[in-house]
Amino acid sequence: MNAERIATLHVDGQEYKLPVLKPAIGPDAIDIRKLYKMANLFTFDPGFTSTAACDSTITFIDGEAGELLYRGYPVDELAEHSHFLEVCYLLLYGELPNQSQLDDFEHRVTMHTMVHDQMTYFFRGFRRDAHPMAIITGVMGAMSAFYHDSTDIADPEQREIASIRMIAKLPTIVAMAFKYSIGQPFVFPKNNLNYAANFLHMCFKVPTEKFTAAKAVSRALDRIFILHADHEQNASTSTVRLAGSSGANPFACIAAGIACLWGPAHGGANEACLLMLREIGSVDRIAEFIRRAKDPSDPFRLMGFGHRVYKNFDPRAKIMKQSADEILHELGDSDNSTLQVARELERIALEDEYFQERCLYPNVDFYSGIILDAVGFPTDMFTPIFALSRTVGWISQWKEMIADPDVKIGRPRQMYVGKRNRHYQPVKAR
Ligand code: SDX
Repeated sequence: MNAERIATLHVDGQEYKLPVLKPAIGPDAIDIRKLYKMANLFTFDPGFTSTAACDSTITFIDGEAGELLYRGYPVDELAEHSHFLEVCYLLLYGELPNQSQLDDFEHRVTMHTMVHDQMTYFFRGFRRDAHPMAIITGVMGAMSAFYHDSTDIADPEQREIASIRMIAKLPTIVAMAFKYSIGQPFVFPKNNLNYAANFLHMCFKVPTEKFTAAKAVSRALDRIFILHADHEQNASTSTVRLAGSSGANPFACIAAGIACLWGPAHGGANEACLLMLREIGSVDRIAEFIRRAKDPSDPFRLMGFGHRVYKNFDPRAKIMKQSADEILHELGDSDNSTLQVARELERIALEDEYFQERCLYPNVDFYSGIILDAVGFPTDMFTPIFALSRTVGWISQWKEMIADPDVKIGRPRQMYVGKRNRHYQPVKAR
């Protein structure tokens, strides 16, 4: 990016000139990298509400317009016309693949869907009622202990194989966590199934019965994977970048991302949202929950509502809402009570000035849980499925950072507001 303009900062009669950088799209940015050296000044932005932590070519969000682009392609076009592994290729390599590139990529992923057999013993260390997010966080971190030949981040070959391994194996690991939590035997992946159908097979197949995932269900799941694949510098992606900036191995970085995603303010919101919709239970209790959401003294928030960047509809929520209608109709559950509550809650909230003033709209997590619930997943599997989808985004962002010759370890500073110098007092004197 080049600096076409200069910003001038006036502090205590001093003048500091700072370059203004121009991106391809989005707000210009004041380059403050030399500010501390020039002026002995920090900037203060604890939630990164006005801070660009990096430059990237992967994903762009226009929060005002409610637009999301993966490598320049609108996510709604990809959700309509593409499929998840093709979107993975796009995010990883920057271009949509031709047929031979796509066939080769799908073959490479398919050939890595099994996990090391020793890993099954790792699962057995968990209690059966362990939250699947706890299991996949641990198992992803442990991957570096199984795949030593793809942990050297300085080797592009090893970075590539680690990327393929994680994209290929996470569905297997997430399905294993599900099977373990319900006391059923693990199911091996099947190489003749597509990515979403294979995941459904590993989750819902039992040894005593045949299982074929309904096409509409695997299509709906594939679309959920696409919609969750990347989202620029969200909390978990920023966690992966920060972990990666220290040179940590890729499996450790993605495990850090999974851990961060688990929070209910982030990826954990899909589970929290469905639990909230169930707690509301019926449309006549919506007013009570809207009141609580607006009450500053009540920590309750509408799960699946609001977003740091979108000040308009999250485009993913729109597609998810349509997908929820379709899949529930397909499953003969069009009058699903949870969906009715969700739609009425959305309608009432969007007409309420509290939400309008704060530009609070449904986000990606508002409808996704309804689809996953209808397909047969328990609520504690919602965030692991989000993690499975987002792994390609985390990896793409991590690869972009590691390949940057100017990459430096991330090391934010702080505003210290604690005690000044004090001297030790023996305990008798305290
Ligand atoms: C994801 O960053 C990403 O891109 C994340 C994500 C991705 O793909 O990676 O999009 C995925 O995490 C989506 C968000 C899922 N989280 C939730 O649905 C949880 C509920 N939402 C909120 O916790 C909240 O909206 C956040 C965390 C999503 C955003 O919080 P911000 O940007 O820090 O906003 P804020 O807390 O400063 O809120 C601004 C105002 C406040 O009111 P006032 O103090 O101005 O009076 O809006 C209010 C908040 O109280 N508010 C809400 C609300 N969200 C914000 N009030 C009620 N219900 C809500 N959901």
